[in-house]
Amino acid sequence: MAVDLLLGLQWGDEGKGKIVDVLTKNYDIIARFQGGPNAGHTLEFDGIKHVLHTIPSGIFHDNAVNIVGNGVVIDPVIFKKELENLKKFNLDIASKLFISRKAHLILPTHRLLDAASEASKGKAKIGSTLKGIGPTYMDKTGRNGMRVGDLELENWKDKYRALADKHESMIDYYDVDLEYNLKELELEFCEGVEELKKLTFIDSEEYLHQAQREGKKILAEGAQGSLLDIDFGTYPFVTSSNTTAAGACTGLGVPPNKIGKVFGIFKAYATRVGSGPFPTELFDEDGKTMARVGNEFGATTGRPRRCGWLDLVALKYAVQVNGVTDLMMMKGDVLSGFKTLKICTSYNYQGKEISHLPYNIEPENVTPIYTEVEGWEDDLTKMSSDEELPNALNSYISFLEKELEVPIKIVSVGPDRTQTIHR
Ligand code: GDP
Ligand code: IMO
Ligand code: MG
Repeated sequence: MAVDLLLGLQWGDEGKGKIVDVLTKNYDIIARFQGGPNAGHTLEFDGIKHVLHTIPSGIFHDNAVNIVGNGVVIDPVIFKKELENLKKFNLDIASKLFISRKAHLILPTHRLLDAASEASKGKAKIGSTLKGIGPTYMDKTGRNGMRVGDLELENWKDKYRALADKHESMIDYYDVDLEYNLKELELEFCEGVEELKKLTFIDSEEYLHQAQREGKKILAEGAQGSLLDIDFGTYPFVTSSNTTAAGACTGLGVPPNKIGKVFGIFKAYATRVGSGPFPTELFDEDGKTMARVGNEFGATTGRPRRCGWLDLVALKYAVQVNGVTDLMMMKGDVLSGFKTLKICTSYNYQGKEISHLPYNIEPENVTPIYTEVEGWEDDLTKMSSDEELPNALNSYISFLEKELEVPIKIVSVGPDRTQTIHR
């Protein structure tokens, strides 16, 4: 059986959590393959909103096992809090959630290093979620990291100490004001580790290979979005992992020829949280309306998200890099009430019109060129079938499908599980 992927095509927060939850009934295994608690994946059903950071978004279903893959970085402190939040729902976590031994651990000092690095950058800061993601992946690629499997060794605390001591001297190097009590942070870390150790650690690549042989259906859940990819995103304003399709191969041990469908998910407009270029960003009333109606605040940090028109140049690039087979358009309901809508179909790049994403998309190089289309007034949030959708929205969808050359298979019209139209 092939492994299907679900990936964000923009700067994250496209609605991955909601759609993974919707699709889980069709799968036996949901697996996260990269990122860590910088992610905030929201799902809503029965009037309750849940935000998950490291735990895959299939956790509320009885039919699926959830796996945190080797490409993920885990903060035991945040993990423990996530587990505590789930307690009241009486889920059988022990038999439904498995952790890869090869996943790397975020130490308290990784978080401190993240804060020190950002503080030292001043205005040039990345706008990191400060969860220690960058420093943890640096230790991974630098071959210094600590992995979940290390926690099964008796001397894991020695390994921890050596790494944390090294980090402390690196924090000093940054020469920034950073107040912290490492003893307290370490206590909290050890408590988190004890909770983590209650779960089953697995060789997830082996588990997944076996599952494939048995014909099990697997969905890989991406975090962040393609424009935050370490290689293909708006570097250096990116995260530290491969958020694109190839990341699922390295982050789970799935060979490329075993990838099936690639679900690409995007908002009907665009948002970004943190720093970095965003060609179609709006600073006017339209942008404020999107932020207000779309309730655009980060699920992890609560920071307001920057909003703008849909950028088809960037979206085409993401479709191409990921090999998207099916598109899913989220938050169409937020655009109800705009008389006209703009879609960025090309860029003016240093005086020339181009339709591909160039190396540099800073505002001094790039101005978006828009196609204007008719908006719709109708409230979409109670609509449940394709036939009910207003003509102007159908035209918007057809326009995007023609430009992107990939069908839009899901139109989401609200945050709830049920507010999902399959086409
Ligand atoms: P993720 O990181 O990709 O899982 O997305 P987030 O959970 O960070 O952000 C998406 C936000 O939009 C969440 O608050 C969702 O509840 C909400 N949401 C998802 N789909 C829709 C939709 O179709 N309409 C509206 N209005 N909200 C949506
Ligand atoms: P989900 O999975 C939106 C952004 C941060 C920052 C940059 C680097 O919920 O879509 P990091 O913490 O990785 O050092 O931050 O990436 N970022 C996200 N933006 N959604 C996310 O995840 C994000 N994870 C990281 O805001 O600009
Ligand atoms: Mg999010």
